[in-house]
Amino acid sequence: MFETLAPSPADPILALMLAFREDQRDDKVDLGVGVYKDADGQTPVMKAVKMAEERVYQEQQTKTYVSPTGDVDFCHAIESMILGESIPHSRVRSIQTPGGSGALKVLSDLLKAISPDATTWVSDPTWPNHLPMLSRAGHHIERYPYYDAAKGAVDFDAMQAMLSSAKAGDIVLLHGCCHNPTGADLDATQWQAVASLCLEKSLVPFVDLAYQGFGDGLEQDAVGVQILARELPELVIASSCSKNMALYRERTGCALIVGDSETAAVNTASLAVKMIRSNYSMPPDHGAAIGRMVMLDKELHGIWREELESMRSRMAGLREEFATALRKRSNSERFDYIAEQRGMFSRLPLTEEQVTRLRVEDGIYMVGDGRFNIAGLPQNRADGIDQVAAKIIAAMD
Ligand code: LMR
Repeated sequence: MFETLAPSPADPILALMLAFREDQRDDKVDLGVGVYKDADGQTPVMKAVKMAEERVYQEQQTKTYVSPTGDVDFCHAIESMILGESIPHSRVRSIQTPGGSGALKVLSDLLKAISPDATTWVSDPTWPNHLPMLSRAGHHIERYPYYDAAKGAVDFDAMQAMLSSAKAGDIVLLHGCCHNPTGADLDATQWQAVASLCLEKSLVPFVDLAYQGFGDGLEQDAVGVQILARELPELVIASSCSKNMALYRERTGCALIVGDSETAAVNTASLAVKMIRSNYSMPPDHGAAIGRMVMLDKELHGIWREELESMRSRMAGLREEFATALRKRSNSERFDYIAEQRGMFSRLPLTEEQVTRLRVEDGIYMVGDGRFNIAGLPQNRADGIDQVAAKIIAAMD
């Protein structure tokens, strides 16, 4: 039966990552996949993670199964990191998952099982993998407008107007912070308005929180999700340690279920567990064991917070630097929005053809829609950022 198959198209972001690895040019620039890079273009293991990993290695006495819900202390620490004291934790149940994507998958399957006729509203644009992930889980997807490219900001009126047409029980996928791919986030007042809209129309938020700590800070980046949790009876959250702990390949994430009552949360989580058991059965342990130690050990926690903050502030600085270089090279202020946006990504107003030309001719890799990873700019190369800016402006001619 396999002979009947034609090759499946590669995922655009992952294909870009592999093409970059194979590119032999010394001056190539990786602004593609969402992986943090330091000034030397490396993605090192964080110091706190390395220390935790050594302790896990020394202290671990068994490799026996954990359980479908994973490491309980890890889950509780993630819950505290996201929800703080915003709501009683009796309303929450959390499940360790294989990465943030695993959390998205578990929650997509769960929501489909509970509410098969719901429509899931997804921002336009969004992380490209949201769409196949939701459709594979059987969701009916609609898009809500999100981004005003001319202003480089959220088109909140259009977003609200579209979501007002959703029906009771529909699901709204929201990026908790550092919107991927635009870098344009809701402010606290807008989160409050989204919460009111969801309450009024009985919509259920599905929050993807993959970049907590990369925007305004670990606590600040949870403001939106905490508003939703305070105001609404139900929501789900997919959290990831890939970026803020740089645990990418360890596949460490968490799915949070917030119910109106403890019973509702417990019963909903039990359905998720049943579905997990018949899927991958249990999550891998290693990344969560590290994450638990990083969050719960006072010394490691302090080291990690400092490392995370230096990554965050470096990206904020790069935004300023890149916006300045583009202002100089274009002799205009049209790229100033880059300095205002948050997280790893922003979008440049490039056509797919211009993006391809930049990759082929200049070795500058970015996603086809003009999304670039700010952390990939060649900061340690003499005039590196200015040269990237110059090539981008030239490509627009
Ligand atoms: C990205 O958006 O580049 C990252 O989230 C990596 C991925 O899996 O796509």
